[in-house]
Parts: sequence; C-alpha cells; structure tokens
Amino acid sequence: MEDEARALRMLDELRAKAEGCTKCPLSATRRRVVFGEGRVGLRVMMVGEAPGREEDAQGRPFVGRAGKLLDELLSRVGVDRRMVYITNVVKCRPPGNRPPRRSEVEACREYLLGQLEAVKPRLVVLLGRVAIRAMLGEGCSVTSVRGKPLVREGRTFLPTLHPASALYNPGNLMLLEEDMATFRRLLEG
Ligand code: URA
Repeated sequence: MEDEARALRMLDELRAKAEGCTKCPLSATRRRVVFGEGRVGLRVMMVGEAPGREEDAQGRPFVGRAGKLLDELLSRVGVDRRMVYITNVVKCRPPGNRPPRRSEVEACREYLLGQLEAVKPRLVVLLGRVAIRAMLGEGCSVTSVRGKPLVREGRTFLPTLHPASALYNPGNLMLLEEDMATFRRLLEG
C-alpha cells in the first residue's frame, strides 16, 4: 500500500513535468500529452508506440481502434485493462501517425524510465517494434523475439506485435492471441 502511494506520487510528479515538456518538436503539434494510466498494484506494464489521433484528443493511451482491439484481446484472456499500467514510448502524437523518430524516443526516454522506476513492474509487455527496440535494443528483430518472455535485471519482458498490425491481418491477430495467452500465464506465475 505504501509502495502504491509512493508510485502514484512519483507518477503525478512526472506527469506534471511531461505536460509542460517541450524537449522535442512533437510538443508543438500535440493537443494533449498522453502520459499513461492504470493501476500500479499488480506491477504490470504495457508499453505501446505513441499516441494516435484519438489518444491525442482524449489524453489517454489506446482509446482508438488499436486500443479497442487490445481491450478485446485482454478481455478474452480475462484481463481488465484497468488492472495494468498502460503507456507509450513517446507521449505526444507524431503528425500523421508516422513512427516516432529516434531523437523523439530519446527525448521522451526520461518519462518512460521514470514510469518504470515508479511502477517497478515485474512484467512488461512490449507492443510492437518501437517499444521492443526502445526497451531491448535497437538491433532487436520483432519476428525473432515476439512471444518469448525474457528476463532482464529481474524483470520479465514479453515482446509482442502492435495491436494495430492485427486490425487487417488475421495472421497477426492469431499471433497476438497466442501472446496474450502467454501474458495471462505470466500474470499468474
Ligand atoms: N498506438 C499506440 O502505440 N499507442 C496508443 O496509445 C494508441 C495507438
């Protein structure tokens, strides 16, 4: 309980800082900073790429089409998204939903690292290439790491596909379903 209160305090401070951030050009085009949300008690985090149009409008992560699919995939394995802390590598929307540039990922890294320090997740699900590379290294190939949990510094990472990649691709949807079943098993373990 004390740990949770401490985490929430740290996240509040960091959110306030991010909301005033002008470290990269995305600050000039964003509507809202999409910092992250969810419970911290389970010590489980999901990390996506960057906010899209809907997220930028609402200031909440994964509330657009990819988010709806993520909710559905989670609920099929009995997980309510509010149980986990959800955020993105980059907190401001890249114009036209292009992938964030490496300089933008670096500018935003202090917020992601701060969130990790606050939440102290035992399990981190990495949704897509940008999250996988930001956390596991730029050389990482998604196809070779996806679906295989790996432990680093006492923390389990589960790299998987980005839910947007499954919106029109049934093959990717099946892979994501498989990985969500793995996620469920890891949650219990
Ligand atoms: N895609 C992401 O990576 N993050 C969001 O918050 C929404 C879509």
